[in-house]
Amino acid sequence: MTKETQLQVEAIKNGSVIDHIPANIGIKVLKLFKMHKTNERVTIGLNLPSSALGAKDLIKIENVYISEEQANQLALYAPNATVNQIENYEVAKKLNLTLPQHIHGIFECPNSNCITHGEPVDSSFNVITKKEDIQLKCKYCEKVFSREIVTELR
Ligand code: CTP
Ligand code: ZN
Repeated sequence: MTKETQLQVEAIKNGSVIDHIPANIGIKVLKLFKMHKTNERVTIGLNLPSSALGAKDLIKIENVYISEEQANQLALYAPNATVNQIENYEVAKKLNLTLPQHIHGIFECPNSNCITHGEPVDSSFNVITKKEDIQLKCKYCEKVFSREIVTELR
């Protein structure tokens, strides 16, 4: 392997690799999805050069397989991310993300009067897409917010 073709972050034997995360979103994704709350080894690469994105972030979690459903929750942040499942050093599966119809327990409702702030209930939004526009409707207060408003609160 020449210097140019070496991996920027060491290969893993088993687990998940979340690739093509836009630069600066990696840390947010890691924390929001609590990927660091594990005893398994997590390696991250930030601001890695990428021919497609210019710069990208990347997260590798050993011995943890992210389900398709979990992966899709990432789509609001990083619609072009790829989730790879690694088995015995090989890419066994590559998940392309599709926007979920519902999103639970990840984002807070931007409406400060919403019942979700006073009660021990998980937030819950329906995802509404109008052409390129993505909006989230709170299941509890029924208010509709743009994707940017909801995701930037966290
Ligand atoms: N990877 C890893 N450990 C392995 C195998 C792959 O960490 N044992 C990582 C690679 O570094 C890469 C991702 O998993 O970030 C996907 O691997 P691969 O499909 O081989 O890379 P690309 O062809 O560059 O992927 P894409 O087509 O998604 O850009
Ligand atoms: Zn609400």
